[in-house]
Amino acid sequence: MNLNERIPNNVNLSEDKKLQRALEKWLPNYLDWWHEMGPEGFQQKDVYLRTAISVEPDGWANFDFVKMPDYRWGIFLKPAAPDAKIGFGDNHGQPAYQEVPGEFRNSLRRIIVTQGDTEPASVEQQRQLGATCPSLYDLRNLFQVNVEEGRHLWAMVYLLQRYFGRDGRDEADALLERRSGSPDKPRILEAFNQPCDDWLNFFCFTMFTDRDGKYQLSALAESGFEPLARTCQFMLTEEAHHMFVGDTGINRVVKRTAQLMKQGDVRQQGGIPLDIIQKHINFWFSYSLDLFGGEISSNSADFFAAGLKGRYKEQDQYEDHVAANETFTMTVVEDGKLQSREVGLRNALNEVLRGEYVKDCEKGLARWNKTLGEEGVSERLYLPHPRFHRHVGEYAGHYFDIEGNLISQEEFEQLKSEWLPSIEDREYVRSLMHPVTEPGKIANWIAPPATGIKGKPFEFEYVRL
Ligand SMILES: [Fe+2]
Ligand SMILES: [Fe+2]
Repeated sequence: MNLNERIPNNVNLSEDKKLQRALEKWLPNYLDWWHEMGPEGFQQKDVYLRTAISVEPDGWANFDFVKMPDYRWGIFLKPAAPDAKIGFGDNHGQPAYQEVPGEFRNSLRRIIVTQGDTEPASVEQQRQLGATCPSLYDLRNLFQVNVEEGRHLWAMVYLLQRYFGRDGRDEADALLERRSGSPDKPRILEAFNQPCDDWLNFFCFTMFTDRDGKYQLSALAESGFEPLARTCQFMLTEEAHHMFVGDTGINRVVKRTAQLMKQGDVRQQGGIPLDIIQKHINFWFSYSLDLFGGEISSNSADFFAAGLKGRYKEQDQYEDHVAANETFTMTVVEDGKLQSREVGLRNALNEVLRGEYVKDCEKGLARWNKTLGEEGVSERLYLPHPRFHRHVGEYAGHYFDIEGNLISQEEFEQLKSEWLPSIEDREYVRSLMHPVTEPGKIANWIAPPATGIKGKPFEFEYVRL
């Protein structure tokens, strides 16, 4: 690994002068973007961050105080496996692609651009959150997530610039030009244009939306396009912490809410009522389901056939890596009714991946409900039905209740405020968001974490203000 170059990397950048020049040209634009759209107000503060110094198991999580603009963004790929093979699809067992296969150039570029676009988008969405952090521990976690999303952008930009020539360079520039929520130049995916301006939204985002990232990256981590696979494998190691932040963040809110419920009215005591937490779960879960794409998709079939995007844990979970003749039974809306339809498995792979994601989310719900039980509260949280509140795929344009029953648009509009955060709910949550920045102190609406970061106590001064 070369850490001393302007762009730290383990891809021998100094031997590819053209690429090095292109990336060095992109670097100042990236830093401008970071200063303009990165965390507001804390750029000159020392933050206790982990930085990758090698991709070996012991080297990628090196902890120290760093100012965010000095973070070592760079290009780190898992080392190449000798004799890598395509793991699935029509070319199963043949040598992996080291360059982009011509006929898939456009779709592969779109996949990389779409993934790449989410990384800076989330930093933009979370830009203001530092001002209302519930503790220094949480502030540090926010910044850790932010700098790593910045690095994920680097990872995708490397692929674009290295493997897609001129259009790759244009796409890399465009990634710094779109803005989350902008009416003229929005980010590509809707979940990444939603405001994430309070900490309940942030925890839901890192729980549900970052978790979509885990499944997309996992499906690409076994790609037959080897450089993409190796990039995603390393990104996944960082992604785990983001989901930890969301999962434990909600768990701590739930715990505090349960404690306040036992003492009386949660609102009067400045906590977040359980029904508002539930509505935020409904909102972010449904938007995150959309990120998997249409239930029935010829793109997913083409990509699987080409060996470019597989299933979750393709090698571990499946025996038949060709999956040419299998079928999948889907529920679709036809003639105003829910009906079963049989489709080829390869056309259903978005839905298959979404199913894995839902199972993973359910585990989070079980953890939060365990907390409620331990606190002696009988209410429980749940996931809405996957058909609820969808904007992409078979269920978009139809209306469903929280249990997935088809209802009319009028019924939906009437009941919407029981299921999704209303303006008043959002305003109430925002009214609780006041910064707590004294080491060891924490806001009233959330419980402290069970442990600190890297063996440090909760009281540690994670950000030096
Ligand atoms: Fe990411
Ligand atoms: Fe992430």
